[in-house]
Amino acid sequence: MSQNQQSKLNNQQSPIKVGVIGAGTMGSGIAQVAATAGCEVKVYDAQPDALLQAETGLDRILSRLVEKGKLNESQKDQIQSNIQYVHSLGELGETQLVIEAIVENLEVKQKVFKELETLVGPTCILASNTSSLSIASIASALQNPERCLGIHFFNPAPLMRLVEVIPAIQTSPEVTELASNTIKNWGKTVALAKDTPGFIVNRVARPFYGEALRIYEEGIADVATIDWSMKNDGGFRMGPFELMDFIGNDVNYTVTETVFKAFYYDPRYKPSFTQKRLSEAGWLGRKTGKGYYDYADGADKMQPQTGVNTEKLIFERILVMLINEAADALFWGIASARDIDNAMTLGVNYPKGLLAWADEKGIGWCVQTLDALYDQYREDRYRCSPLLRTMLQNKKTFF
Ligand SMILES: NC(=O)c1ccc[n+]([C@@H]2O[C@H](COP(=O)([O-])OP(=O)(O)OC[C@H]3O[C@@H](n4cnc5c(N)ncnc54)[C@H](O)[C@@H]3O)[C@@H](O)[C@H]2O)c1
Repeated sequence: MSQNQQSKLNNQQSPIKVGVIGAGTMGSGIAQVAATAGCEVKVYDAQPDALLQAETGLDRILSRLVEKGKLNESQKDQIQSNIQYVHSLGELGETQLVIEAIVENLEVKQKVFKELETLVGPTCILASNTSSLSIASIASALQNPERCLGIHFFNPAPLMRLVEVIPAIQTSPEVTELASNTIKNWGKTVALAKDTPGFIVNRVARPFYGEALRIYEEGIADVATIDWSMKNDGGFRMGPFELMDFIGNDVNYTVTETVFKAFYYDPRYKPSFTQKRLSEAGWLGRKTGKGYYDYADGADKMQPQTGVNTEKLIFERILVMLINEAADALFWGIASARDIDNAMTLGVNYPKGLLAWADEKGIGWCVQTLDALYDQYREDRYRCSPLLRTMLQNKKTFF
């Protein structure tokens, strides 16, 4: 990495030239973020239609921001003129950072990275926005894998403050630092994550869905009551079933299954038949008009059974499983305690960081609640993280 390039990447006074590959949901959002920060952005997509849609979509979004008074016309024009929609990968040749946001398929991504490396300069940083593939496997396609890392935005990229930065084992520390500084200069909060399945958010959030589904499958409560417990007692903006319907049961199921397989079938991440059947039936959630809930016009909204004594039990069971997952991520060195908590509050809008929540509830409460679940079920799924147990013995807290 040349001195010149280093100072350029570090210095917000001279915004860098950025390439984005893929003009879909994520690519168009990432381009907007970089262009808003003043970078010159070139967006490439294999489908010309996708480029057109991204361009008109951005115009719509920025016009709405102008109407709301969050931008003025000249800022809107500036952002739009910072973005060029291009029809060949070769046009990304002059860029200093390329972020790939194409289809989630390792072979396709490797092919694109291989070609990209022959087109850009030797110091250009090559990043993937992948949610579930290992960065090491993407980097392995390159002649210079030390320039490759994961830069994982959340949807919608312009609104979500969190970005996970994931160095692969091949990535040079310098590249990680430069990329992190660039993303921070774009106004985002960076959480540094190890290259392990689900990184931070998609790993730590699994029990929010999985334990809710398990409680439902055991017949402890219906979906509306579980959702209500998490919102009413936990302060979550959406209940697990509302959120699965929002994300799409197909997408959410696939993430769970990918994480489960990637963790060598650890029962903590076991997918649910309920969600699989919904997915198979095409009951994908909001996008198909039906999921756990019916979104047809005039359909009755399922009502929770409030005031029943299962409410606290439901919330605490899901919460303690989330805390256990967060503690275990810290135990295995996936990220720092601060980054794990930031990831969940800024990446998926949790009302509190899970480790701070553990301190508040008491480490003793966490261990006892998990041990009670383990005693009841005798399943490895409910094993308490060794970190929580050691912390209890040593009377430690996370913060
Ligand atoms: N959607 C999310 O919530 C989300 C969140 C974080 C990360 N991601 C990750 O971001 C990436 C993109 O996801 P998305 O939801 O934006 O997908 P998308 O389907 O909305 O967009 C993908 C775009 O890539 C283009 N494309 C496909 N193959 C290409 C190729 N070989 N060369 C150039 N363009 C190509 C497609 O034409 C499409 O426009 C995936 O790796 C996904 O896992 C998605």
